[in-house]
Amino acid sequence: MKAFRSMPAPDKTPSRIAGMFDAIAPRYDLLNRVLSAGLDQTWRQRAVRELGLGARPRVVDLCTGTADLAIAAVRVHPDASVVALDFSGAMLRVARAKVSAGDHGARIRLVRADATRIPLAESVYDAATIGFGIRNVAEPNLALAELQRVLKPGGRLAILEFGQPRIPGIRTLYSWYFRYLLPAIGKLVSHHESAYSYLPASVGTFPPPAEFARTIEIHGFVNVRAVPLTFGIVYLYIGSKGFQKVPEGSRGF
Ligand SMILES: C[S@@+](CC[C@H](N)C(=O)[O-])C[C@H]1O[C@@H](n2cnc3c(N)ncnc32)[C@H](O)[C@@H]1O
Repeated sequence: MKAFRSMPAPDKTPSRIAGMFDAIAPRYDLLNRVLSAGLDQTWRQRAVRELGLGARPRVVDLCTGTADLAIAAVRVHPDASVVALDFSGAMLRVARAKVSAGDHGARIRLVRADATRIPLAESVYDAATIGFGIRNVAEPNLALAELQRVLKPGGRLAILEFGQPRIPGIRTLYSWYFRYLLPAIGKLVSHHESAYSYLPASVGTFPPPAEFARTIEIHGFVNVRAVPLTFGIVYLYIGSKGFQKVPEGSRGF
């Protein structure tokens, strides 16, 4: 069986990505629950808990989509305030409905913005999160630099992203599921031709955990760890903004 990484890199033009998420927004949450067998919410909760936040934390959730990670943050920390950003209007509409249904309006502010140009002041936030979003960003270095900018020194970072299981038998089984069954179910339920084949293609061309952890470090984060969740189907990247200034030109872009 072909390894994921042999797949061609998908087109991540921002207008294409935003349009794709606009189209699948109404079925996005349902498909997340079905395709992950309900595990996706436990991954988000774990990410929030690993932040180890204190009282009244100020959190930025980038690529918030339908706001599940932002909502997980205020459930774990009812005194948190979260700015949740995304560039897909339709995903944000679903998010807005969920935020008001859950009575989180006073805690979660939804903002339409590109992850590479965050309209927030620098060194203000205690934590930043991205759930299954960074892989979709055309210029992830710019998004990481933006998070580094808006976090306070010592501020915490948690990024969830798909990976590939390390145990050989599980890897083969999961690879088959991810490359063939998942896109078929995704297409059937979302009625979108390509969004759920884009998913394995984008995961397949995402850097391996050690490489992505190193990229995060290059952006001035310290104590960065890549923690495998559920056999490595998902990785949780955890770190903190360092106290030293990142020298210009050292970020690799
Ligand atoms: C797979 S969804 C993840 C949503 C949510 N964080 C979650 O945990 O389910 C990816 C989201 O990233 C958003 N996105 C991708 N690139 C972006 C960018 N450059 N700026 C803002 N949002 C972006 C998409 O619109 C989409 O809502």
